[in-house]
Amino acid sequence: MVAGNWKMNKTLQDGIALVSELKALLADTTPKCEVVIGTPFIHLATVAEMVKGTPIKVAAENCADKASGAYTGEVSAEMVKSTGAEYCIIGHSERRAYYHETPEILREKVLLALANGLKPIFCIGEVKEQREANQQNEVVKAQLEGSVFNLSAEEFANVTLAYEPVWAIGTGLTATPAQAEEIHAFVRSLVANRYGKELADNTTILYGGSCNAKNAAELFAQPDVDGGLIGGASLKAPDFKAIIDAR
Ligand code: 13P
Repeated sequence: MVAGNWKMNKTLQDGIALVSELKALLADTTPKCEVVIGTPFIHLATVAEMVKGTPIKVAAENCADKASGAYTGEVSAEMVKSTGAEYCIIGHSERRAYYHETPEILREKVLLALANGLKPIFCIGEVKEQREANQQNEVVKAQLEGSVFNLSAEEFANVTLAYEPVWAIGTGLTATPAQAEEIHAFVRSLVANRYGKELADNTTILYGGSCNAKNAAELFAQPDVDGGLIGGASLKAPDFKAIIDAR
C-alpha cells in the first residue's frame, strides 16, 4: 500500500485539483499496490465521490474516541464511514504529541473505527531521544500493546500498521532501508507472537518519514516494508505517483 497523509494542508478547491491531477496520472496504469489518500475531514465526501471507479481509496486522518453526542467539533467514525472513506489513520505521532492522545484514547478510536467498518492505519514510532537510547523496540511494542493487541485476530486482520520514526517525519532524515527493515521485522515478530505467523505475514506494515520519490524504491525493496505512509510528497501528484510506481 502507498497511502498519502495530507495533514492540515489544502483548501477544498486545492484538494479537488490535486485529486484530479492524480486521477489523470493514474488513468492509464493499474497500480501494483493499494493506493490511499488521507485527507482532512472536509474533503472526504467530495474526494470519495471523485475516486469512485478508480483504484484510489480514501482515508480520514483521525476520528473521535466517542460514538456520538455532545462533543463539539469532533467527527465520529460513523460520520467518516458515511462519506465513503474506507480507512482511518489513528495514532499519528502529531496527534499523540500535540493533542495528547494516549494509548487508552487510541484504543477507543481503533475500536470505534472497526465497529463502523473503517480500516485503521495505526501509527507507531519512537522519538529521536528514544532512538538515540536504542529504545525503539520497546517503544513500538508498548504502543501496539497499549492500543491494538487487545483486538481479536478477526479485528486485527483489518488493521494496517505504519512505522513512522518521529525523527524522520518532515525532517528529510529518512530511516535507512536497514533501519526500517530491522524494526519492521521486529514489529512483524510481535504480531506473530500475538496472532500467529499467518496473520503476521498478511499484515501490511508501512514506513513513513521523509519517504519520497528518490528513496521509496530502496525502502520498499526491504522484505518487511510493505509500502509507505507519505506526508509532504503526497501533496504533489507527480511525486506521489512516482512513489506508487516504486512499490
Ligand atoms: P513526511 O513524509 O512529510 O515526512 O510525513 C510523514 C508522515 O507523517 C506521514 O504520516
